[in-house]
Amino acid sequence: MTSLVRLTRGRLDDAIRDLLGKEIEERVATSNLDPDGQEAILASIGAHALSRYLPGEILNALRVFPATGAHALLLSHLPTWEFPPTPVNGFGAEAELAEINALHFGLIQLLGLTPFAVDYENDGRLIRNVVPNPAAAGKTSSWGSDSEFFWHTDNPHLPFGEPGTDPRLYIPRYLTFYGVRNLERVPTEIAAVDDAARLVDEQTWRQLHFASYEVGPPASVNTDPAGGATVRLATPVVEPGGDGFRVRYDRGTTRGQTDEAAAALDTWTQALTGIQRLELVLEPGEFLIFDNCRVLHRRRGFTPEPADAARWLRRCYAS
Ligand SMILES: [Fe+2]
Repeated sequence: MTSLVRLTRGRLDDAIRDLLGKEIEERVATSNLDPDGQEAILASIGAHALSRYLPGEILNALRVFPATGAHALLLSHLPTWEFPPTPVNGFGAEAELAEINALHFGLIQLLGLTPFAVDYENDGRLIRNVVPNPAAAGKTSSWGSDSEFFWHTDNPHLPFGEPGTDPRLYIPRYLTFYGVRNLERVPTEIAAVDDAARLVDEQTWRQLHFASYEVGPPASVNTDPAGGATVRLATPVVEPGGDGFRVRYDRGTTRGQTDEAAAALDTWTQALTGIQRLELVLEPGEFLIFDNCRVLHRRRGFTPEPADAARWLRRCYAS
């Protein structure tokens, strides 16, 4: 069986990549642009340059992506710049990364989406540096490396949102990534909920639709501020919606509230280890977006390169 993930792919040629990179570099050179304070300016610079240089079919693929029902989009051979050492403690000098941020936010703007952060996670900052942080060793976190990150969706304890609402109150609809370095060649693995449906018998699948689960916030959520860390009670794991099914799930924080619910969850969790998936090794200059409501993702444990050269992805939520 092949994976049901529908992935849209695009690739720039060398000439376009170089022109785009130069244009963005020149336009951010004279000001100090911080992603949290000047996101709109960075986005408009990036979107302007992308609109000017990207081939029509790639521009169109970006603009229609949210309406196509595709699970993910991967854009390769985007500009790269001279990157500083990997900020393995999680945060670096963001103003020095204005080119990357202009490109990242520009792509999100062309996709017709809104980037956002929540104040109880990642210090409230828009960009999450996905790096092997030594302080997170042994933890299931995007800052971890040694422990496996099992199949999950991000922030599954929140309700599903609708367009035209404050995205911070809901499950992030999309996760976006820009690859800075990945010498370890660690894949980001994605799988379609439709594939998860094929793993178990009908009764188990139906049970997962009942409002008999509780789903807690992930470990990366700061439990102090009100609102962010509420456990969601009496919720289904899977529900119909949009194009097929949507899902909320994290093995570490999802529990059945009845024996039947727990048994179905256990069966499904075990079956997930064999799910059809795409393994995407994000290279420098690659951009990935996937639907966090219709896609499960995971990352297996790995041994990072020395700190300065360790794996570094940039992640931003968008809805
Ligand atoms: Fe995640």
